[in-house]
Amino acid sequence: MSKTVLKVTDLVRHYPLPKESLFAKPRYVYALNGVSFEIKEGKSFGIVGESGCGKSTLARNVMALEPTDSGSVIIQGEEVVCKSFSELRPLRQHFQMVFQDPYGSLDPHHTVGRIVAEPLAALGKISTEEKNNRVKEVLQSVGLKSTDTEKYPHEFSGGQRQRIAIARALITRPSLIVADEPVSALDVSVQAQVLNLLKDLQDSFGVTYMFISHDLAVVEYLCDEVAVMYLGSIVEKGRTEDLFKSPAHPYTKVLLDAVPKPASGRKRERIRLKGTVTGQTEQRIGCSFQDRCPMAQDRCRRETPSLKKVGPEHLAACHFSQELMKEATA
Ligand SMILES: Nc1ncnc2c1ncn2[C@@H]1O[C@H](COP(=O)(O)OP(=O)(O)OP(=O)(O)O)[C@@H](O)[C@H]1O
Ligand SMILES: [Mg+2]
Repeated sequence: MSKTVLKVTDLVRHYPLPKESLFAKPRYVYALNGVSFEIKEGKSFGIVGESGCGKSTLARNVMALEPTDSGSVIIQGEEVVCKSFSELRPLRQHFQMVFQDPYGSLDPHHTVGRIVAEPLAALGKISTEEKNNRVKEVLQSVGLKSTDTEKYPHEFSGGQRQRIAIARALITRPSLIVADEPVSALDVSVQAQVLNLLKDLQDSFGVTYMFISHDLAVVEYLCDEVAVMYLGSIVEKGRTEDLFKSPAHPYTKVLLDAVPKPASGRKRERIRLKGTVTGQTEQRIGCSFQDRCPMAQDRCRRETPSLKKVGPEHLAACHFSQELMKEATA
């Protein structure tokens, strides 16, 4: 049995909204409503879903970058929720993040050498010589030159900047990298290079990825397992192959149908999506997807479906998963 690198249990994050008046009821954005999953060592776990479904909130809470309301995040056996800044410092070497925007995430006033070395602070005191060696080594591993340390971010292209961001994430030799849409700001031709680099780094260093994307083709290429999020909850989770071949939640099917060029051999019928995403500022009875679901029935408005097993390592939160899966294989 391989080791679990990340275990997330019942993670909740509700953002308070400003009160409309002194006596008004408090209102919240229900960004995460009890999210659970785990990632095994050396695997890539994809998180997909529409804009606003809570993917980045999940990433920030896993990375302990903001306070979590409740739940647990265990990275390499250590709980990170509710830890103080100083308690988190030594743990930070185990988990690093790559952000979407390679322009905004690198300080334009700092040299590449300084940017890439920054996470080493989590390791405590290390000699300048070791620091310089680590920076050069990691720059080479992402395909940049060791002489690039003296340059500034504006001297690099978008793809190269994302390589710098990846080098910065790798320098502490983390077991987990959380990548939030790491290629979506890049040109399509450059996207493939960066994705291949991430794959190669996984082969070389055995790093585990939590990989966020709204692009299913990217997730299909890179990830061993996928979780589909809708309005702050995981509605389907499973091995990438199973989930793409036989979606068990109508929302997953809709997402897959939206991919312009399906992967070979996938047989699909087009489902039309009703309505638009309703805000995350109310908690409703029944299924969160009921207003847009082409299969919704009375039961979906009365009973909130929980994540249930629909196959080995395949879970879905829909009362009608079995029907949907039968349809796909018919
Ligand atoms: N600091 C905050 N305060 C209040 N609401 C927030 C805050 N951060 C996020 N939200 C809200 O939480 C919800 C989830 O946002 P989040 O950024 O996690 O979505 P996302 O899935 O990453 O979307 P995208 O694909 O556009 O990046 C949204 O409704 C968003 O407006
Ligand atoms: Mg986001």
